Amino acid sequence: KKVAIGIDIGGTNTVFGVVDEMGQVLVKNDIPTPKHGDVDRYITDLSAGVQEMIESVKQLSSDIEILGIGIGAPNGNYYSGTIEYAPNLSFKGVVPLVELVKKRFDLPVIALTNDANAAAIGEMVYGGAKGMKNFVMITLGTGLGSGIVVNGDLVYGHDGFAGEIGHTIVVPNGRSCGCGTPGHLEAYCSAPGIKRTAFELLAHYNGGDSELTKYTFDELNSKIVFEAAERGDKIAIEAFQRTGKLLGRALADTVHHLSPEAIFLFGGPTAAGDYIFKPTKESMEEYLLPIFANKVRILPSELKSGSAAIVGASALVWNEINK
Ligand code: BGC
Ligand code: NA
Repeated sequence: KKVAIGIDIGGTNTVFGVVDEMGQVLVKNDIPTPKHGDVDRYITDLSAGVQEMIESVKQLSSDIEILGIGIGAPNGNYYSGTIEYAPNLSFKGVVPLVELVKKRFDLPVIALTNDANAAAIGEMVYGGAKGMKNFVMITLGTGLGSGIVVNGDLVYGHDGFAGEIGHTIVVPNGRSCGCGTPGHLEAYCSAPGIKRTAFELLAHYNGGDSELTKYTFDELNSKIVFEAAERGDKIAIEAFQRTGKLLGRALADTVHHLSPEAIFLFGGPTAAGDYIFKPTKESMEEYLLPIFANKVRILPSELKSGSAAIVGASALVWNEINK
């Protein structure tokens, strides 16, 4: 049985799994992504974890053939196999990730791409984008990532970093982004962004009878905001509305640039369903040129939450083999 290993490097955890050609995760595991950038130690721990996982799969079935490792990471560069200046990771400067992993594993394919690109490839191979030639994947998590597919191919651009929609300025002189520049979309439309919006609204309305007043800034998260919204909490609902408004406006620009068939939203905050999808769609339509009106769907990712990032990263391996 042919399988691929998918690794997703996130701000908090690094998750990895063995995935078959149908996109089924056979086994998975995770380790914390370091809070302080000790790269050698991290690669050692990650390799040990992956090796252990490989042994356990081989025990399940004797005819396992591992074709490669696909890795998704913020600011991952497909061309050079490096992670560069990632605002939401502790690694400083340029990390030659593929080179380091190749020293530990002898496999036909070892490839890296941006985390959101990996999600886009996963959606294309196993999810709702099957057969779509032009679409955009937006991932909402610690940051806001994007993977752009044009004419059936992922867009990497000249240097390999195309698709950094999260670093679009949506509020001049606004909140500071993890990258240091004020007013970026990611500072508003991401899990921490939603939390900050809720907190600002609490301050503005002086608590406004919201159940969110019982949380400290550290305790609050976008999931709690969603659960409050479901109970009708006005501040929580408004936090999602504001998030969707900014996201939709930015996505109108994306549509103007690319004319996609659909835009997929992926990640934790999308569990909020219509609380976020509805204002996003309405705001996008409000800012779209008439030539695009009511033509572009905004869809939830069809990749199973929990394993989507691993599946997306593993899909990079099949993509490389089938090139
Ligand atoms: C990074 C992107 C990444 C996104 C989601 C952004 O801050 O610049 O490369 O895809 O976060 O992790
Ligand atoms: Na990208």
